[in-house]
Amino acid sequence: MKTLPFLLATLLVVSGCNSTKMNEQQAGIEKTSFGKLTDGREADLYTLRNETGMEAKITNYGGIIVSLTAPDKNGTFSDITLGMDSLSGYEKGVPYFGALIGRYGNRIAKGKFTLDGKAYTLATNNMGNHLHGGLKGFDKVLWTATPVEGEEPALKLAYTAKDGEEGYPGNLNVEVTYTLQKDNALRIDYKATTDKPTVVNLTNHAYFNLAGQGDILSHEVTLNADRFLPVNETLIPTGELKPVAGTPFDFTTSTVVGKRINDSSDVQIKYGLGYDHAWVLTDSSKTSKLAATVYEPTTGRVMEVFTTEPAIQFYTGNFLDGTLTGKGGVVYQKRTGLCLETEHYPDSPNQPNFPTSTLRPGETYQTSTIYKFSTRK
Ligand code: GLA
Repeated sequence: MKTLPFLLATLLVVSGCNSTKMNEQQAGIEKTSFGKLTDGREADLYTLRNETGMEAKITNYGGIIVSLTAPDKNGTFSDITLGMDSLSGYEKGVPYFGALIGRYGNRIAKGKFTLDGKAYTLATNNMGNHLHGGLKGFDKVLWTATPVEGEEPALKLAYTAKDGEEGYPGNLNVEVTYTLQKDNALRIDYKATTDKPTVVNLTNHAYFNLAGQGDILSHEVTLNADRFLPVNETLIPTGELKPVAGTPFDFTTSTVVGKRINDSSDVQIKYGLGYDHAWVLTDSSKTSKLAATVYEPTTGRVMEVFTTEPAIQFYTGNFLDGTLTGKGGVVYQKRTGLCLETEHYPDSPNQPNFPTSTLRPGETYQTSTIYKFSTRK
């Protein structure tokens, strides 16, 4: 049954009230203005709150998770994501903090691929390669947001990427739904359809810091993956699926992130400046399975990542360099946050041995990822 507060909040949102206030502990969704883009369009900020008091703030600009709170072992909620205080902060340029990524998340070698015999050229925005959808990927567009009625607060974001946009073929209708579940999990459901054969790889690029401060080097990570994808100097997979056993990439049991992150005798660590690789999940089924667990010992916070995707990019904020000042005036130094981007393998359009990322007319792209929070003493 729907809770009254949720309905009330939804109704107020639907009726256009901008200053709806939810009481503490009321589940619901609230809409406020997030300011104006430089082109004059308005962006909104939606606050989703569940009944335990967890909150996700999401803007329809880039579908960005602006903040996400989670309780520590004493029940204290803190924001555990990196981001900016204002819309202009995001618009000035950020390394994909909290954003929806598409049409193709991660890299496509040299910005080129061939599909059904036709060659396509995309922007090369990262070391001669195409990264995260191009110059104006899904992280920089304004999505149409609609609160979804149901037992749990949810927000549906829709965007149609035009045929030829950023060089990709086909009009692509994308729908992403964020649901803040009762069990302190943020669920993201992705859906897409196309009118021409195209390639699709959607993800979210949230940077997490479960301590809410400092760096992520003492976070403990488990990845349910016995192989990873080694890369070349420009971070394009070589095509090999390499066993993690005996390498700094072995996170099959809970391992402190900082333990081997600077082991530059390993060429992969050297190329990635730390971890910036896709791990191949041992369970290759398309069902939702546990891909990763992160534990932060000082706060006791635990994050579990479940996904229907075949791989997960573990990125340790190696390119953060202290030049960005984020929420609350915090300077984002190297390794202030970690990303666990669930996805298809990078560069799949050029690697016939990787699971396909092609989407054809009549098919529906459908994936789901859950970030679930709990604590351990
Ligand atoms: C991804 C990439 C990294 C980096 C970040 C953004 O995670 O794999 O190499 O580009 O995005 O800085």
